[in-house]
Amino acid sequence: MPVLVIGTGYGGSVAALRLAQAGTDVHMVEMGMAWDTPGADGKIFANTTRPDDRSFWLRTRTKQPLSNFLGFPLDKNVNRYTGILDAEEFAGITVYQGRGVGGGSLVNGGMAVTPRRENFAAILPSVNAAEMYSTYYPRANAGLGVTTIDPAWFDTVDCYQYSRVGRKHAQRSGFPFLFVPAVYDWDYMKQEAAGTVPRSALDAEILYGNNYGKKSLQKTYIDRIRATGRVTISPLHRVTRVSPASGGGYTVLIDQLDTTGRTSVTKTVTADKVFFAAGSVGTSKLLVGLKATGALPLLNNEVGKGWGENGNVMCGRANHLWDPTGKVQSSIPTGGIDNWDAGGAFAEVAPLPTGIETWASFYLSITKNPHRAEFTWNAAAGRAELNWQTAWKQPSIDAARTIFDKINKKEGTIYRTDLFGVHKIWGDHLTYHPLGGAVLDKATDNYGRLHGYPGLYVIDGALIPGNCSVNPFVTITALAERNIERIIATDL
Ligand code: FDA
Repeated sequence: MPVLVIGTGYGGSVAALRLAQAGTDVHMVEMGMAWDTPGADGKIFANTTRPDDRSFWLRTRTKQPLSNFLGFPLDKNVNRYTGILDAEEFAGITVYQGRGVGGGSLVNGGMAVTPRRENFAAILPSVNAAEMYSTYYPRANAGLGVTTIDPAWFDTVDCYQYSRVGRKHAQRSGFPFLFVPAVYDWDYMKQEAAGTVPRSALDAEILYGNNYGKKSLQKTYIDRIRATGRVTISPLHRVTRVSPASGGGYTVLIDQLDTTGRTSVTKTVTADKVFFAAGSVGTSKLLVGLKATGALPLLNNEVGKGWGENGNVMCGRANHLWDPTGKVQSSIPTGGIDNWDAGGAFAEVAPLPTGIETWASFYLSITKNPHRAEFTWNAAAGRAELNWQTAWKQPSIDAARTIFDKINKKEGTIYRTDLFGVHKIWGDHLTYHPLGGAVLDKATDNYGRLHGYPGLYVIDGALIPGNCSVNPFVTITALAERNIERIIATDL
């Protein structure tokens, strides 16, 4: 076969679509499920407030980002199943990732943010920023269907009361508040608010999939991929090994999984070219393992390095009684507070969709955390490990505090201490934004070609060196659009 793509997230979908449009047949291999069939409740995806077997990847107990609420623990037992959200635990951090055809687009908040140009230029100095902002960011935003909320509707609708309170508090403390674009169908959300269609954003759907209004990759790139007729997608198939084939090209070993995660069959295929698009963690784990075990010994020493968590940290604030944040909160955030230049933090006003009035403002901050971790191969255990240290989140907390200490002082309010465990203020144990591990122009050339192996490419979040200054999927998509255009022009 000409091309095999490992993973069906943003990078993999861009690669497959553009290759197919250029006339190349592509096989996409995805370890997660297809997510195209309703469960017993008639819905494909489980609700955030009622997690079930579908919610987590191979766990027997849920591991929700918010562990407690008003003193009650939130997690519960489930059956081990190839569910949609992986809470992958390393020694110092839990990394949340989507599993299934569509990758992270199935589970994410849909915030589709283009970084400020000067920040992009500082993060990826080897990339021509002028080209990115004139061609590839616009192409990515169009391909993903990115749009911004109608400000007049935002100002009046109940489900964004929480975001308006966030705006008021930011502005009273002198911080710029900006609308964050998203990949949600706003007309659909208006109909949800009017009660004329089944609800998804307004029924708290996030984390475990969205049944209606969110434009996940299934509705954008993957829909167009299917229309080419040139792409085969194999769900519940996990790539375990890639090595040079004797007659040229690469031999790829693939485990077919059942829904309990057990291997039912192992398959071997050969491909002329292989794209690693298994996500920052998936691609990094594969590459360090393949280098160390002798399958791809010529990969360079940058493989596994430059990994970061995009400075993710969460917190909640307890508002006064005159600042209710609303019973029904749209699960799609629309507003952010930009204090990147002065304090190294960009904070999104996030929903806390509990269905009751909480008087809480909740935030996900993306911060300029300088720490970078490395994946290494533990030969004895036969697995890749990540050396991120829990204490490395302190710079993220300090950066987020440049916003929220000031707001608390101005408003006379305090942090919530009931969301992340007993008397814990900061959600600093996790990331939703793993980035790096096969950094552009280091582990690969300036277009994602892996050094040492012609025909092997990285085309996902592993290329971005640990931080993106905003939510990453638009940048992952735009960089993939840039790289695949060059690869099609010169390597096919
Ligand atoms: P991605 O992770 O999307 O895809 C990789 C795919 O490869 C997965 O489907 C995986 O199952 C598969 N795979 C891995 N190993 C494999 C193997 N060995 N064999 C076969 N398949 C394999 N970003 C943003 O910009 N805005 C937002 O609002 C959010 N919100 C958000 C919320 C939550 C809960 C999460 C978990 C994440 C976000 N993100 C986000 C992050 C965003 O979703 C993420 O950055 C992208 O999905 C990463 O895209 P990639 O193409 O790198 O990989």
